Amino acid sequence: MIHIAVLGYGTVGSGVVEVINRNRDSINKKAGKEINIKYVLDLRDFPGDPVEKILTHDIEDILNDEEVRIVIEVMGGIEPAYTYVKRALLSGKSVVTSNKELVAKHGTELLKIARERDINFLFEASVGGGIPLIRPLNQSLTADEIYEITGILNGTTNYILTKMTEEGKSFDEVLKRAQEKGYAERDPRADVEGHDACRKIAILSSLAFGMEVNYEDIYTEGITKITEKDILYAEKIKHSIKLLATSKKIDHRVFARVSPVLISNDHPLAMVKGVFNAVLVKGNVVGDVMFYGKGAGKFPTASAVVADVVDAVKHLNRNIVFSWSTEKMDLMELKDVPVRYFVRIKYEDFENAKNEVEQVFGTKEIIVLENLKDEFAFISNEETEGILQEKIDILKKEKSIKGIENIIRVEY
Ligand code: HSE
Repeated sequence: MIHIAVLGYGTVGSGVVEVINRNRDSINKKAGKEINIKYVLDLRDFPGDPVEKILTHDIEDILNDEEVRIVIEVMGGIEPAYTYVKRALLSGKSVVTSNKELVAKHGTELLKIARERDINFLFEASVGGGIPLIRPLNQSLTADEIYEITGILNGTTNYILTKMTEEGKSFDEVLKRAQEKGYAERDPRADVEGHDACRKIAILSSLAFGMEVNYEDIYTEGITKITEKDILYAEKIKHSIKLLATSKKIDHRVFARVSPVLISNDHPLAMVKGVFNAVLVKGNVVGDVMFYGKGAGKFPTASAVVADVVDAVKHLNRNIVFSWSTEKMDLMELKDVPVRYFVRIKYEDFENAKNEVEQVFGTKEIIVLENLKDEFAFISNEETEGILQEKIDILKKEKSIKGIENIIRVEY
């Protein structure tokens, strides 16, 4: 029998306990051993819940119990999760976590401790909830050199952008409704400003490129500046606006970015709507592979956690090798990364403004929305962001241009 402990009896923790109890026989069969939840740690009491019998408020009960071989950390946040996880690993217990903040910030160190002790630190649930991503990257796509990962890694923002598109509503209106329905957090900043997606792409990039990608080095822009007008332009040119988290190899260097991006409606990620997540992985042998599913929620996340527990049971005294090394990735600066810009400008004088755009950006093709009389948009040719920014600065100084309303990256 393998004894395990669950740290945190919130949404995910209670889901994990429920899944292990509900699918006990098949899980034990797949693990090849009987799994027993010996402790659940939480500050709170749960009167009447069967978990009461195994509930503890004291982490020392778990860390000092040699029978506990696997610790599941589903508390979230950095502290005390980091201290508990590190101590568990140092005392020879494998750890399974769903905590993306923890993995993004301390994954390199925690993986190293696990490697040195021939135990495991597993984190499938930290990115994409129930969608298998970490294991495929680490164990299935190993013949390939991955050269790009691009994903919709945040359900809240994808839901908001989908509703803005389908219902023609503003960001604020949709966010408010999403909060009322419980789809968006009361404090939605981590989601709408892109920080959640940033941590997730940092984790995937560290795995895919085999070095530590520091989430603080990743350029991150959220969706708060996307307006109904941007959406109308996107519709006119048969594109969708998505918050994309991407990391890509360009000539042996890697860049990573989280930002709203205009993608053609033919792009596979354009079809990902509502709270769903999807990740497109490009490898030099396999080609394109896409993963799709529920990126959050009690049971999708619990499913990934329990799958990791099964893996940890199957590899009790054997470390599952991760290519994520302690070496740090020096990311490319955004100014050196080639991209196209969609630019919306307000003009003083239509003909002159059009000529200026043609002179500075070399494009004649502009996009006009019938109901908007004092603005138009255009899509630039592909150039580095540094050059594009210089051109934007030149355009801003022209008399016929009243202002730049918005700039959104375009990917094909
Ligand atoms: N808040 C996240 C999202 C879920 O909206 O996708 C947890 O990672």
